[in-house]
Amino acid sequence: MINIGVLASGRGTNLQAIIEAIEEGKIKGEIKVVVSDNPNAHALKRAQQYLIDTRYIDFKEFKNREEYDKEIIKTLKEKKIDLVVLAGHMRILGPYFIRTYKNKIMNIHPALLPSFPGLNAQKQAVEYGIKISGCTVHFVDEGVDSGPIILQKAVEVSDDDTEESLAEKILKEEHQIYPWAIQLFSQGRLMIKGRKVFIK
Ligand code: GRF
Repeated sequence: MINIGVLASGRGTNLQAIIEAIEEGKIKGEIKVVVSDNPNAHALKRAQQYLIDTRYIDFKEFKNREEYDKEIIKTLKEKKIDLVVLAGHMRILGPYFIRTYKNKIMNIHPALLPSFPGLNAQKQAVEYGIKISGCTVHFVDEGVDSGPIILQKAVEVSDDDTEESLAEKILKEEHQIYPWAIQLFSQGRLMIKGRKVFIK
């Protein structure tokens, strides 16, 4: 059983998919806390519905990012978190955070990395005119969406796709591969060598 801490800023559909995978027994673990930088994040409400502990931490109350990160870490340590899952977390974590949870932070990105990192990946993809996009689950390093890749899933982009329709297609796949990646982690099957992840 692993203890999972989720960081989320928004609607929390990936959080929901992870909660369901745990309930179905696919992930041997428990979400011990959901932390948000947004008091109105729907993710917090979803967590509360399942009686998961939640924390809102206001970035403005801290003098810099490291102090803010330390406050989140304090919460994660209290809960003995083994894996930090970023699920629509809109704030970049600082080097101190990344070092504290080295190879224990996962993120999902709505593009096939290393294409279209950063914000508005689906918009970038549609505007670029690519034919295939998708989503990527990766470990988080100190760069932006640059850490070792765990799983990817492709979707076709059609001529009439908009940012919204592509985002919707990708999201369906996100809800499959994110719980799967966490499942693999919980089974101790992910091995990182350099920037590659091997699945045992
Ligand atoms: C997803 O598109 C994910 O790829 C990105 O942020 C979005 C979060 O959506 N990192 P949700 O809050 O899980 O619904």
